[in-house]
Amino acid sequence: MTFRGQVTLDGPSGTGKSSVARGVAARLGAAYLDTGAMYRAATVAVLDAGVDPADADAVARTVGGARIEVGTDAATETVRVDGADVAVRIRGAEVTRAVSAVSAVPAVRRQLVEQQRALVAAAGAVVVEGRDIGTVVLPGAAVKIYLTAAPEARAQRRAAQLGITDPDEVAALAADLRRRDEFDSSRADSPLRPAADAVVVDSTELDQQGVVDRVVALVGSAVPAGERA
Ligand code: DC
Repeated sequence: MTFRGQVTLDGPSGTGKSSVARGVAARLGAAYLDTGAMYRAATVAVLDAGVDPADADAVARTVGGARIEVGTDAATETVRVDGADVAVRIRGAEVTRAVSAVSAVPAVRRQLVEQQRALVAAAGAVVVEGRDIGTVVLPGAAVKIYLTAAPEARAQRRAAQLGITDPDEVAALAADLRRRDEFDSSRADSPLRPAADAVVVDSTELDQQGVVDRVVALVGSAVPAGERA
């Protein structure tokens, strides 16, 4: 199936969202936009400027002066800050610790949302992954998915990715996931929540391929045949 339009994929960390979004984009022949990578890149700019992530005014100024570039090709990840490749750095612990504070700053969100809409407009078909895509960034999207999974399953997945087996370390990962969810869901600007018209998909009992199949089927049933390219 070739598809034109937007698929939004929101949900908390550790649900396998990124792998699913890439898989869906590949199946649909669509572009892929990882908006979390944009907030992470903004966080790199903040850390490199020596700015305290809790100082909202300084964060807004720093991100406002930074050139953040994120690619939309599902097969290759491009993330740059002021021309420097930060694709690996944005996944590090230092950035992960600070990103919730940076992404809670309204001026940062306005700047990145504007950029996200421009990238989406330039792509005919696109799968967009984040926290507020169905609610704020693209409220008119053709298909909205909210991906969830039980917290224990999410912590186990993260642990497997990182090669962690120690039960205490897995418990610490689960606690960190809960802390970030709580922060992202309770912030004043664009909190994490499903859009009223989103389909909630629970990935606790499904493997990645199962979730991709489910989302592709939802796209197929949501988009009238005449509107598929
Ligand atoms: O999906 P991720 O873990 O890479 O996201 C990193 C952080 O960015 C996460 O703490 C929530 C935030 N984020 C956001 O506030 N809005 C988005 N659309 C995407 C991510």
